[in-house]
Amino acid sequence: MATLAPLLLVAWTLTAVSAAAPSPSGTAASPSSAATGPSAAAPSPSGGAAAAGQSPAPSASAGALPGDPANGSTLYNSAGCTACHGAGLEGGIGPKLAPIEKLPDTKDPLNPDYLISTIKNGKSGVGSFGQMPAKGGDQALTDKDIADIAAFIIQSNRNPGATPLGPVELARSNVFWVSIAVLGMIFITYLLARYNMRWVGRRARERREAERSG
Ligand code: HEC
Repeated sequence: MATLAPLLLVAWTLTAVSAAAPSPSGTAASPSSAATGPSAAAPSPSGGAAAAGQSPAPSASAGALPGDPANGSTLYNSAGCTACHGAGLEGGIGPKLAPIEKLPDTKDPLNPDYLISTIKNGKSGVGSFGQMPAKGGDQALTDKDIADIAAFIIQSNRNPGATPLGPVELARSNVFWVSIAVLGMIFITYLLARYNMRWVGRRARERREAERSG
């Protein structure tokens, strides 16, 4: 047990790290990845743990999201939206995005079409915040990227506090919590073993004394 647990830990870490590292080409050996078929054109960074967010189609389980929220989360960070809307969508220079602020000209700020057109074209400054630049200033964003970011914002508003993690963060948080759990179990096992040894010793002493006096 005492040697097995650290071994398991190391194995876990290695699995997670190799799952998190994007493979340089789509054909790189990735034993745990199921998507090795002809459709796998893009390198798939997921190794199973984060498979949920990887499909390019809107995920059926989460209702009608306009795109892939996991990818949207990554893009939200890489496109620089964080600078004005905060790393946790909490707002700053720009309005809060989760729970989303209702600007004066908006009936339903979570409407996918509204989100997509706002991100794509920017906004003139109807609120007290100033202007939102088109695509947040990152002209490299494609229509699909923008739909993914909109999906991310909608999902973050549906389950507040539970911002979906990207594959790397997911792997890291898995490793972290599993490590804590394993360490906890090792500690409990250690305590139980110590208690047990003391109990065995006491029993033996009592028996010896009983034999001597009897
Ligand atoms: C330079 C700062 C800045 C950056 C960068 C920026 N925004 Fe904004 N954003 C704003 C401001 C300011 C507003 C409010 C505009 C208004 O009141 O008309 C806004 C409004 C929005 C809204 C509408 C919110 C609502 O409550 O109706 C969305 C959605 C949004 N931004 C998404 C994004 C996304 C996604 C990105 C990254 C691609 C991004 N923004 C990057 C400043 C920014």
